[in-house]
Amino acid sequence: MAHEKMPPKIQILPSLLAADFGRVAEECRRAESAGADALHLDVMDGHFVRNISFGPEIVRVARRSCGLPLHVHLMLDRPDLYLTVYVDAGAATVLIHVEARCDVAAALNELRGLGVRAGLTLNPETPLELAEPHLEAGLVDEVLLMSVHPGFGGQSFIEAVLPKIAALRMARPSLAISVDGGIGEATGAACARAGANVLIAGTTLYGAPDMAAAVARLRAAAGGAG
Ligand code: DX5
Ligand code: ZN
Repeated sequence: MAHEKMPPKIQILPSLLAADFGRVAEECRRAESAGADALHLDVMDGHFVRNISFGPEIVRVARRSCGLPLHVHLMLDRPDLYLTVYVDAGAATVLIHVEARCDVAAALNELRGLGVRAGLTLNPETPLELAEPHLEAGLVDEVLLMSVHPGFGGQSFIEAVLPKIAALRMARPSLAISVDGGIGEATGAACARAGANVLIAGTTLYGAPDMAAAVARLRAAAGGAG
């Protein structure tokens, strides 16, 4: 059917990394009341990236405090060792990096077996070709293209992600394509024009005094209905 080839609908995901960690449960509810489509959670191990954020306990807090689907981004050297941990904690989507030190195909396959969406993430300098065998094998529900070097919020958007988004959209018309890092109204609009349909934003959304208005503005900038 024709509509199966349409790019999927725009989704706006606040990234909890930019939230106030003294009030995590309230911050999860703030994203839900603001009209977000899901909540993005950045798990860092201090090895894959030079930062440590949080682990499964915060994912469990998010699961208990709001009804949003949890989109868990594992910045871990060995995500394969922790898949069941994050699925049990309440993830709806688990995203691993193609650069991780593990058998990526086996990890994606395991995620499918655990009944969650399997996401594959690429760092800014990683070519799309590394994702291709996993896409071809039908192991991937979503590709996340990093638009900053992962590890920290509040960095500047790397424009070189735009042609990557466009090339991936051209090759995969109905794939969920997300983008993460430095997303605001202008960069979000550029990503959506290039073909991304999932916009992840920390500073722009959690830093806004009125998150609902910020979600609506980002959605409108990306061309999505309110
Ligand atoms: C960076 C994280 C992002 C981060 C984005 O490693 O993966 O999800 O929270 O933050 P902003 O939107 O502030 O660039
Ligand atoms: Zn992230």
